[in-house]
Amino acid sequence: MGIALIWSVIAFLIRWIFSKRRGAISYDSSDQTALYIRMLGACVIFKQLFSRDVRVRSQVGFEPERRGSHPYLGVDFRTLHSRAESAGSIPARRIRRLFSFQRHLLSSRLLRGVPHQNPLHILDEDYCGQARCMLEKVGSWNFDIFFFDRLTNGNSLIYLTLYLLNHYGLIELFQLDMVKVRRFLVLVQEDYHNHNPYHNSVHAADVTQAMHCYLKEPKLAKSLTSCDILLGLLAAATHDLDHPGVNQPFLIKTNHYLASLYRNTSVLENHHWRSAVGLLRETELFSHLPAEDSVNMERQLGSLILATDISRQNEYLARFRTHLDQEELCLGNASHRHFILQMALKCADICNPCRPWELSKQWSEKVTEEFFHQGDIEKKHKLEVSPLCDSSTNSIADVQIGFMTYVVEPLFAEWARFSDTRLSQTMLGHLCLNKASWKALQPEEAEFEQDGGSRALPQGSVES
Ligand SMILES: *[C@@H]1O[C@H](CO)[C@@H](O)[C@H](O)[C@H]1NC(C)=O
Ligand SMILES: *[C@@H]1O[C@H](CO)[C@@H](O)[C@H](O)[C@H]1NC(C)=O
Ligand SMILES: [Zn+2]
Repeated sequence: MGIALIWSVIAFLIRWIFSKRRGAISYDSSDQTALYIRMLGACVIFKQLFSRDVRVRSQVGFEPERRGSHPYLGVDFRTLHSRAESAGSIPARRIRRLFSFQRHLLSSRLLRGVPHQNPLHILDEDYCGQARCMLEKVGSWNFDIFFFDRLTNGNSLIYLTLYLLNHYGLIELFQLDMVKVRRFLVLVQEDYHNHNPYHNSVHAADVTQAMHCYLKEPKLAKSLTSCDILLGLLAAATHDLDHPGVNQPFLIKTNHYLASLYRNTSVLENHHWRSAVGLLRETELFSHLPAEDSVNMERQLGSLILATDISRQNEYLARFRTHLDQEELCLGNASHRHFILQMALKCADICNPCRPWELSKQWSEKVTEEFFHQGDIEKKHKLEVSPLCDSSTNSIADVQIGFMTYVVEPLFAEWARFSDTRLSQTMLGHLCLNKASWKALQPEEAEFEQDGGSRALPQGSVES
């Protein structure tokens, strides 16, 4: 290894260590449950109720360039409260990933200036063949993202998105700098909280894969521009960035900083978008484009991500129905295309129940685990337990059946009306079968009856 290479490895490690301490919501699921926010300036305990374990951590320049070059002024309270168990399995995983990032750096430096390289050269030799083989079927609705994530050593979001950007020729077309693209994707993946059972980078990779399936549908494929495709993929990859693993009502009732920043409205989605913009600017991914284009990209990215706010589902669905009833969708019109991209992203985000049972079931278990975990925190702190979050009165089956009936079915029924293809029929078919499977697994004493058989889904409490 040349001296320059060694220096860059050292520089990389330093950056990596500091990146562990940058502004982000971090949420520790250990017994010493803790919720942290890093914000302006210094560390502040933000709620007396939580004084033992919920803290605010701070960093200068939080929104949207919260990860700028400002010195990190806060103290990590987790280290003050840490018990052996809170160390858990994360360090081992981080070490593994450190090695994979070292490989990433080495290979990206060696290949700097060599265009059209297959991004998969970075993978472990043993897994390279299998992962590459899987990516050839990335457009399949049966794509097993969990398996792909294992093959890529927990880097599914990076590899999948990189592959798709290449696949659509976007890197070349937008003259994106490969080093910046990789850095952007590494940071995006890092900003997801991998200790969230559900809202983690595998969910983001799954949504990106689903988005790819929709972008290939004939109606979209023949009308979308490259810009639409780039935005669709980026929005999918970043749509839950820095998700804390609790929902909006939780943030509001705990007087969370983000809730007041975004005035109790699409709090999480605004934060995901702002975080994505922060990374775009930090990595200067679009800095070679005219300023008005990159501002426009950021704005459209926001409009896509904000559409994933499930509490606004009826609004979007009503617009979709009106368009379909009046057959006025004209995909030559940029604003209509944008609306279809919003709907596609909404579908991709909640498509879990439309996947084959073996995949769908895993997602259901994960999302319910995240809800119940929130419920446990609420109980512990004598807060009202959010609907669907109480493990003593809800089962996975009834949470899923409600979600499918009131949220997923109406959306996919309209989508199938818009795009009447084999994929749409496949998705509706799985949805129907999966619902029947959950019904068969539903516990006997249906708590359900208590509120008249229907359980309205509360704002922000379903996966988004
Ligand atoms: C947000 O909701 C909380 C709790 O309902 C309320 O106290 C607060 O004033 C609201 N904030 C804004 C900006 O509406
Ligand atoms: C595109 O559609 C929007 C909304 O329906 C409409 O306001 C606009 O005039 C249309 N643009 C063109 C160029 O047709
Ligand atoms: Zn999501």
